[in-house]
Amino acid sequence: MSETLHDALIDEIKDLYHAEKQLTKALPKLAKSATNQDLRAALDSHLAETHGQIERLERVFELLDEKPSGKHCAGMAGIIEEGSNVLEEDFEGAVLDACIIASGQRAEHYEIAAYGTCIAWAQALGLTEVAQVLGETLAEEKAADQKLSALAEGDINEAATADDSSDEEDEDEAPAPQPSVSASAKSAKTAKSATTRRRPN
Ligand SMILES: [Fe+2]
Repeated sequence: MSETLHDALIDEIKDLYHAEKQLTKALPKLAKSATNQDLRAALDSHLAETHGQIERLERVFELLDEKPSGKHCAGMAGIIEEGSNVLEEDFEGAVLDACIIASGQRAEHYEIAAYGTCIAWAQALGLTEVAQVLGETLAEEKAADQKLSALAEGDINEAATADDSSDEEDEDEAPAPQPSVSASAKSAKTAKSATTRRRPN
């Protein structure tokens, strides 16, 4: 018998359960690296919320008559891996904070998408209480995302631009433009124009 939307919902809940558990390990690292106090406080408070979200998922498992268990969430693992790579770069101060916000918002948007799907499926399946419990978490995820946007747009992004003019020279040089495709592969007309192209100095 093929699997049902109900089965798919359970799979998604398991995926979210693992995603949230991964975040409880990743958020403290981001918070510890943040230099802006408000950003650190926002990440710490979202960590506390995340513990509550895990409990809500356990309630959802109960409502679905399933034992709580996670299924490896490769999506969140990838987002977290990218975030920890950023922490290993040489970013400092407001630039580092801006990068931490970027990682945090990727995680939030992933969750917003996943919870949104699960809520819609639960509603379609007539699982009103499941949809309601998940809806509480979705509201927290959206609020966390908006808080990060407010911090970035409030002053962190602007503070992060402070060193930009002096840093420009540090960028790796862009590769020189490649010579055009060999003349033989082109029409006679194009080949002619290629021969008249000036050589670079
Ligand atoms: Fe979450």
